[in-house]
Amino acid sequence: MSKASVVLGCFYGDEGKGRVTDFLAKVADVSVRAAGGNNAGHSIIVNGVKFAMRLIPSGILSNRTIAVIGNGVVLNPEVLIGEINMLKEHGIDVDKYLKISDKAHVIFPYHPGMDVMLENSRTVKIGTTKNGIGPAYCDKYERSGIRVEHLYCDQFESMVRGQVEAKNAQLAAAGEPLCDADEIIAKYTEYAKILKPYVCDTVTLLHKYLREDKFMVCEGAQAALLDIDFGSYPFVTSSNTTIGGILSGTGLSAKDVGDVYGVIKAYSSRVGAGPFVTELFDATGDRIRDLGHEYGTVTKRPRRCGWLDLVAVKYAIDINGVNYINLNHLDTIGMFDTIKVCVAYDVNGTITEDFSTNEKFLSAAKPVYKEFEGNFGDVSLCKTYEELPEAAKKYISFIEEYTGTFVKLIGVGADRENMIVREA
Ligand code: IMO
Ligand code: MG
Repeated sequence: MSKASVVLGCFYGDEGKGRVTDFLAKVADVSVRAAGGNNAGHSIIVNGVKFAMRLIPSGILSNRTIAVIGNGVVLNPEVLIGEINMLKEHGIDVDKYLKISDKAHVIFPYHPGMDVMLENSRTVKIGTTKNGIGPAYCDKYERSGIRVEHLYCDQFESMVRGQVEAKNAQLAAAGEPLCDADEIIAKYTEYAKILKPYVCDTVTLLHKYLREDKFMVCEGAQAALLDIDFGSYPFVTSSNTTIGGILSGTGLSAKDVGDVYGVIKAYSSRVGAGPFVTELFDATGDRIRDLGHEYGTVTKRPRRCGWLDLVAVKYAIDINGVNYINLNHLDTIGMFDTIKVCVAYDVNGTITEDFSTNEKFLSAAKPVYKEFEGNFGDVSLCKTYEELPEAAKKYISFIEEYTGTFVKLIGVGADRENMIVREA
C-alpha cells in the first residue's frame, strides 16, 4: 500500500506550492486538494504558458495525473467550470482526470456578499480575498451548508430558498446587494449538470488508489500561519491549512501520510493584514517585491515583503511534521549583496527562538538578524546543488542547520525546469 506525499506552505501563503506539486506530478498518479477554495492561487509555468490554478490540483497539468477535489474544499462552481474550460482549451483531458467530492461545500453568491459585509463591519480588517470562503465554512460548521451532493437531491431548491432568505435578511440590514433565489437555482442547476460526471465519493476512492499502490500527492493551499488554529488569528483563513486539514479534508489517515514537503521562499511575503515580524517598509522590501514578482495570482494585490523568518518557519515545520524543505526564489534573493535571515525574536528585551501566534507576543516581536553574503550570480542554469556558488550553499546549509530539515528541492528560476532536486 502506498503513502501520500503532502505539500504544505510554511509561511503566509504563496510560497510556490503549485510548483512542487507539479514537479511531483511527473511521477504522481493522483493529486488532491484538501482545504480552502478559490482564495488559493497557484501559478505554474509550463512551456512558457502561465497557469493560475485556484481549485483544481495543479497536478492535472501533467495530463497524466488524476486530480481530486477533496471533501474539505469549499467549491465555487462558476470558478471551477471556468478552470475546467481553460484546461480543456490547453489540451488537458479533464474529463478523464478530474474527481470532485460529493461532500465538498458549495459557495453560493451570498457567500462573497457576506464576506464583503463582514469585512466592512470589522474595525480591524482581515483583508480577505472576498471569495466567500469564511462564510461558506461558517455554514458548514453551523450545519446549514449545501454540499455538492445536495445539488442532485430533491431538497436542493428548498435548501437554496431557505439560505437566500436567511442571508438576504442580513445583507439587507447591512445595505449590501441581495441575492435572487430563482436566479441562483437556475444557474446552479446548470452548473450541477456540467459537474455531474466528475462527482463521486472521493474518500473511498482515495483509499482504493492507495491500495492500488498509486503515488498520491496532497496539495496544500494557503499556509501554516494562515491556519484557523495555528495561524495569526484572526488574520487567518477559515480552514486548517496544516497537516490536520489534509487528513480531515480528504479522509486519509495519519498512517497514510508519507513525505511532508514544507514550501518556503528564500525571503518572506504576506497578503492581507496581520503581524509580519520581518516585513520591510523600505526600498529593500520594494526590491524583493519587484524582483520576485510578488503580486497576488488571484487578487493582484502587491504582497508585503521581507527577509526570511526562520523562527516562524521552524514552527511551521514542527506543526506539519515536515521532512523535506522546498526552498523557492533562491535566484531572487541571490541578487542582493547582503542577505538577512531572522534567527530569533527580541520581545521586549527578551531574545527567544520560540515562536508563538499569541497576539501580544507577535506584535511586540522584533527580528534578530544574521547576515549572509549574496551576489549568487545567475543560478537559474544550475542543475545540481554542487554547481551552486559557495555563498548560496552557505545560505542553504544554514537553513538546514537551523530547522534540522533537509532542503531537497531548490527553485532557481521561474520555469518548471528551474528546480534543483537533491537526494538525501
Ligand atoms: P495560496 O494557496 C496568500 C489570506 C488573505 C487574507 C486571509 C483570509 O495561494 O498560498 P480568506 O479569503 O481566505 O478568508 O482570506 O488569508 N489568504 C492567502 N494569502 N495565499 C493564499 O493562498 C491565501 N488564501 C488566503 O489574503 O489575509
Ligand atoms: Mg497564492
